[in-house]
Amino acid sequence: MPESLGVAVIGAGMAGKAHAAAYRTASALYQPTLPDVRLVSIGDVNAEFGRAAARRFGYERHDASWEAIAEADDIDVVSVVIANSLHREVVEGLLAAGKHVLCEKPLSDSLEDARAMAEAARAAESRGNLARIGFTYRRTPGIAAIRELIQDGTLGRPLHFSGRYWTDYGCRPDAPMSWRYKGAPGSGALADVGSHLAYVGEFLCGDIQSVSGGQLSTAIAKRPLPLGAVMGHDHAAVSDQFEAVENDDVASFSAEFAQCIGSLSVSRVAAGHANSLMFEVFCENGAALFDQRRPSEIGLFLSEGGSAQNGYRQVILGPEHPYLAGGLPMDAPSVGFGQNEAFAYQARAFLEEVAGLPEAESLPRCATLDEGVRNMEVLAAVAESAQSNGKKVSL
Ligand SMILES: NC(=O)c1ccc[n+]([C@@H]2O[C@H](COP(=O)([O-])OP(=O)(O)OC[C@H]3O[C@@H](n4cnc5c(N)ncnc54)[C@H](O)[C@@H]3O)[C@@H](O)[C@H]2O)c1
Repeated sequence: MPESLGVAVIGAGMAGKAHAAAYRTASALYQPTLPDVRLVSIGDVNAEFGRAAARRFGYERHDASWEAIAEADDIDVVSVVIANSLHREVVEGLLAAGKHVLCEKPLSDSLEDARAMAEAARAAESRGNLARIGFTYRRTPGIAAIRELIQDGTLGRPLHFSGRYWTDYGCRPDAPMSWRYKGAPGSGALADVGSHLAYVGEFLCGDIQSVSGGQLSTAIAKRPLPLGAVMGHDHAAVSDQFEAVENDDVASFSAEFAQCIGSLSVSRVAAGHANSLMFEVFCENGAALFDQRRPSEIGLFLSEGGSAQNGYRQVILGPEHPYLAGGLPMDAPSVGFGQNEAFAYQARAFLEEVAGLPEAESLPRCATLDEGVRNMEVLAAVAESAQSNGKKVSL
């Protein structure tokens, strides 16, 4: 095992800060089995964003280019947390320079680029460098708990999945133009939040075999240009110049999973839903529901006892559920936690694999870039279905 691992994060935006904080927390979770984690650099072309994040999260420096991070001898592990269309160049460059790379979802903005990245990852892995993708929601304790209930037979085989990932970052027409609104059909809400929802659906119900009824809709056709740099979903000051929105604000489709059928719907114009990943999964022995607005609980219905007293129960998550024992400083039930903790579990899982800790003594491994390609194939199938009046597209 290496004595220490030097870490960098490329992208100091909305999710980049979550990665930066997560590497800081990772070694303070569970048993102290990780090598020393050195927080080395935050890379961002916006030097102000890079400097501020490095200072805030205790990184030694900031760099203004990904190349500087690729060339740095004191960096071993890099998270890539920038616009999807930039993932390929940066991930491939970092892998060529011998870094271990954790890339954000979706893997890229095009299937062709995603497949090339997966190939580069396989070649890098044969040289001992890991490339993984962060599907953060697999680290959500409530979602992992529901998966366990399905797999251990408590809930049993899924019969029907209904999932929504509704967000409202684009619901106002004056929300500024950003990289999220540019790209081919399917690269909008479907790629941005649908990538998470499709992954969660497959995590619970098995591989999607086909999709149908695909619909993509651009609800707001043009957006004003921002006057300055915009981070994440910030509502920055805007000019009176507009550019066309190229991709989907709303998307929906039906999916035939290995185990059941499901309906999935995503949006970035759902006023009142800042970040609502919600699903219900109906199974042989009952049902479960999760709602990201109440992340430290799940709903559980078990078909047992008299129906006059039965119903959904609220299960408060605590140390008996996945990730939480040792995964929070105060790991008692009902202390509360949310999406940021999932980034910490993800960073920990990646560092454990890079450090060579045995899988049996580690958190579940991060997904491979092949799984990132698979996720994009599902999204591409939805876009194809939408372009063909909702026809069924097999995977
Ligand atoms: N897992 C999650 O829950 C989650 C949440 C949000 C975003 N994401 C993903 O994270 C990625 C980034 O999204 P975001 O919302 O943080 O974006 P963002 O727009 O907030 O931040 C992107 C940052 O990248 C910087 N940047 C642009 N070009 C660069 C370059 N060539 N080199 C270095 N830095 C550069 C920008 O200055 C900006 O600070 C996307 O892939 C997105 O899908 C994942």
